[in-house]
Amino acid sequence: MIVRKTTAELEKMRRSGLLVFEILRKLQEIAVEGATTMDLEVAAEKMISDAGARPAFKGYYVPAAGQDYKFVLCTSVNEEIVHGMPNPKRVLKKGDIVSIDTGVKLDGYYGDSAVTVPIGEVSEPVRKLLRVTREALELAIDRVRAGNRLFDVCGTVEQHVTSNGFSVVREYVGHGIGTQLHEEPQVPNYVDRRNENPRLKEGMVLAVEPMVNAGRPEAVVRKDRWTAVTKDGSYSAHFEHCVAVTENGPWVLTRP
Ligand code: MF3
Ligand code: CO
Repeated sequence: MIVRKTTAELEKMRRSGLLVFEILRKLQEIAVEGATTMDLEVAAEKMISDAGARPAFKGYYVPAAGQDYKFVLCTSVNEEIVHGMPNPKRVLKKGDIVSIDTGVKLDGYYGDSAVTVPIGEVSEPVRKLLRVTREALELAIDRVRAGNRLFDVCGTVEQHVTSNGFSVVREYVGHGIGTQLHEEPQVPNYVDRRNENPRLKEGMVLAVEPMVNAGRPEAVVRKDRWTAVTKDGSYSAHFEHCVAVTENGPWVLTRP
């Protein structure tokens, strides 16, 4: 069942979304050559607690890993796709890209968003990877409209990514969001005909999160049981926004 939110509930999700936006904005300033991914974690944890919010990821049980996640952020560098863990030894260097993904719970409602940022100057193919992934998210956001179907959103990401010579990750997907971090429906970045294709209705909220590999689509999980990396070692980019279906069209909750 896909939960539909009232306007009052969407206003609460908006507050969570804007907090996540402010955190990611601050972290993008900190993410420079010489900083560590743990520096990002420390800053994010303070912002969440100063705002009187709860982290969405820390303490979240993931069956595949067999344990709770230990951090407020996922920081996934270069060939890491998602669920990279902040590490005081992981010093960011010129040419790296880092996906910073965070979520919060405020007044009972979740917000969840991610950006991938370049460290210093990155190569032209890597700039294209970031651009195409960001564009795929924007094009998909525009499909989050009452009367459209879920596959319109999923297929838009897939089409834009594959037509630019990149590939979408299949092992990890976007999701509904609200009083739970992960609600129905799953939002794959490709059309998965094994799933249902519900019509989108006002009040639904989707976390749309393209995960795009420069090379082959396959993902493998490292021995740490969390970090998903590309099997071929190619770079991977990730952007995410929470988007509500409203009578006025898509409402991106996780940016002003
Ligand atoms: N943005 C990701 C998601 O929505 C991150 C979850 S990390 C976890 O699934 F540890 F909380 F699982
Ligand atoms: Co998410």
